[in-house]
Amino acid sequence: MKDLKVAFYVTGGIAVYKSISLMREFIKMGADVQVAMTPSATEFVSPLTFQVLSKHAVHIDTFSEEDPHYVQHIHLADWADVSIVAPATANTIAKLANGMADNFVTSALLATVSPIFLVPAMNEHMLEHPATQKNIETLRNRHHYVMEPETGFLAEGYSGKGRFPETEAIIEALEGFLMEFRENLPLKGKKVVVTAGGTKERIDPVRFISNDSSGKMGHALAEAAWSAGAEVTLITVSDLPSRKQINRIQIDSAAQMYEAVNQAFQEIDVLIMAAAVSDYAPLKVEEHKMKKQNQLTIELKKNPDILKEMGKKKTKQFLIGFAAETENIETYALKKLTEKNADLIVANDVGKKDRGFNSNHNEVTIYSDINQPVTIKLSKKAEIAQSIIEILIERLE
Ligand code: C5P
Repeated sequence: MKDLKVAFYVTGGIAVYKSISLMREFIKMGADVQVAMTPSATEFVSPLTFQVLSKHAVHIDTFSEEDPHYVQHIHLADWADVSIVAPATANTIAKLANGMADNFVTSALLATVSPIFLVPAMNEHMLEHPATQKNIETLRNRHHYVMEPETGFLAEGYSGKGRFPETEAIIEALEGFLMEFRENLPLKGKKVVVTAGGTKERIDPVRFISNDSSGKMGHALAEAAWSAGAEVTLITVSDLPSRKQINRIQIDSAAQMYEAVNQAFQEIDVLIMAAAVSDYAPLKVEEHKMKKQNQLTIELKKNPDILKEMGKKKTKQFLIGFAAETENIETYALKKLTEKNADLIVANDVGKKDRGFNSNHNEVTIYSDINQPVTIKLSKKAEIAQSIIEILIERLE
């Protein structure tokens, strides 16, 4: 659960009070939890309880869009690594099974593509009603995990099936579900190395040569590869965050990047060189801060071409390179494909202000050694990364 982003959906049943302990346990285990409640759930427990414990505002009203940057229910759906509905009432289960979206919770769930885990809790007769049973079956066929409620003392004052299970049982089932979900992902068992950012080539203790690359594309690729089930190592110059499940190696120079890539290379299946590697580094790194002078010449030496070197060494490894150009993009991309022995070259025009270096968006054309080029129109870098990983998955198959 450590660093897992959990969308926690609370629907209106008496078991709401138990879901507070469940949510607290997730937080204790290191998860980041955001809560959304149906209006009925708020009749049982105040949203303030969940807000104080989760340290996030609780979502209830689909139309109270306070932050104009986001549509909240879509944002929560996209943000979550996993969505948990606890307790899940017969009503919300029915709506989810039938694709209804009439409140914040059902709208967000309908927009969710990551795994959904439900903990039904209700009266025994409601649970056993053929409509509820059919809806649960529909959700299971859709690969949602629907926990089996426990048998015991119900709020109605008699014993029956429908109780909200104990926190430990829910966590055990959830961990099993998440593990199984990752087992079935397309890049399961694949080791992927991604490089990111513009390398920094030291001149003296306070100065370096670098470029405009932010590392956003590389970090998005590492995240997309992880989401597809790969074991990911991210060799990065950037300060951008990356999830704990990604093995991160922080470096500065092209020489350090070469070392790190070279050391991992034998063992890996895929290398994605998204980094903007500086072609040159100062021949000599000054030990002390250089003093001002009228004219200054810094002698540069050529850096290793990491992708090209790995291209020479490759056996089973699939190599993806990038081509950041301001002119003749196709010609240069095709040249790199053969010269560097790469399997794919992702080419982008870095001469435009609204895309490429440092931007959140990009437009790329992917050149392949065997297929026709594919252009991905101007989109968010996360979406581009997703498309590149999809092409990678197709090629690995
Ligand atoms: O040759 P050019 O720099 O245009 O090629 C870009 C591709 O090669 C990128 O994938 C980049 O990460 C990689 N590269 C490298 N080592 C270098 C320069 C670029 O691996 N020294």
